[in-house]
Amino acid sequence: MPTPPAPTPPANGAAGAGTPGLGVLGLRRGVTFGTAVQGGWLDTEPAYAAMVAAEAALLVPEWEGKWSALQPQEGRFDFAPLDRILRFGLRHRRQVRGHALVWHQAMPDWLLTALAEGPQRARAVLEAHIATVLDRTRRQVRDWDVVNEVVADVAGSDTPQAGPGELRDSPWLRALGPGYIDLALRLARERDATLRLVLNDYGTESDEPWSLEKRRRLMRLVRGLLERGVPLDAVGIQGHLQMSERFSPEGFRAHVEELRSLGLAVLITELDVREAPRIAPDIAQRDAAVAERVQSFVAAGLAGGVRTVLTWGLSDRESWLLRDPDVARRDGAQHRGLPFDEERRRRPMWQALADAFATLPER
Ligand code: G3I
Repeated sequence: MPTPPAPTPPANGAAGAGTPGLGVLGLRRGVTFGTAVQGGWLDTEPAYAAMVAAEAALLVPEWEGKWSALQPQEGRFDFAPLDRILRFGLRHRRQVRGHALVWHQAMPDWLLTALAEGPQRARAVLEAHIATVLDRTRRQVRDWDVVNEVVADVAGSDTPQAGPGELRDSPWLRALGPGYIDLALRLARERDATLRLVLNDYGTESDEPWSLEKRRRLMRLVRGLLERGVPLDAVGIQGHLQMSERFSPEGFRAHVEELRSLGLAVLITELDVREAPRIAPDIAQRDAAVAERVQSFVAAGLAGGVRTVLTWGLSDRESWLLRDPDVARRDGAQHRGLPFDEERRRRPMWQALADAFATLPER
């Protein structure tokens, strides 16, 4: 099973001169730590770029690797936004992972039209996209989220896309049937024999009934893929944690171990934290609660065999949790779910990640 090249340890951490960043601390324990980035900010915001360079050994494009960015019109590919991140990765000798070839969001209108024209047309546009994108990024990107968020949500969870079956009801499913997942993975493998092929999803992190059911659905999907000989190297567990949800480290570790027992790598790919509707009045108490959940979650994942951990951004200033109205707080407060605050100061979650890495032996 292919693994991406080892990253170059980042420089001193953003936390302060002489303080190793999370990327360095992780590498000392065999963990690759990284984060989602936006190329525009890397190019135009020196403080943002310095924080990323100081903390992340691995980068993932927040939106620049999606269909709407890469192929906004049929046959017209635009790699310029993604190239900003690839150039930064080359300059700082950091790995870049790919996200996401097939997803039910970030789909341009022309693609939705094409998918509705029937399975032959759908397969043709899928094949052309995968071939072009993998060929163009192959030298630098050795790990792609080939399919993203394909398991249907379960009634009761806070995401409305609970589907009729166990797979998300999406334009892909409607165009190609359940085999679209097999097809995407097979096309990626045919195009690149050593690329690490990842199936990435969310909602299996907690002990809530809907999360436990989604774990079962994910396992059934993954076992079926492997039984059919579909190429799959890893599962990404996004890790958008919700403090309102019950969490048991033992249960999550067992979930990771079950995936690992199938010969798959397991990554935490999009870690951040949404606080519960009712929060403590005291910032220090809020940050401590978030840090405790993060340390418990990441340590359990590492104990289960996770060795790649990415946050979905590094500081509140860039977080979708503050930008996206679907997840932003409605009480006037702001989520505090990343390792750095809006001023890019380290917060207890930073230390929680460092402490979780330190549960593994030094290499
Ligand atoms: O498209 C414009 C682009 O033309 C412009 O140059 C750029 C300038 O900043 O902005 C782009 O706009 C938005 C982009 O975020 C950057 O802010 C897109 O319209 C908007 O759709 C995009 O939202 C992203 C979203 O996925 C959809 O791609 C969020 O940043 C990103 O945090 C979110 O991430 C998803 C993961 O991919 C999958 N898991 C859930 C996670 C959160 O929803």
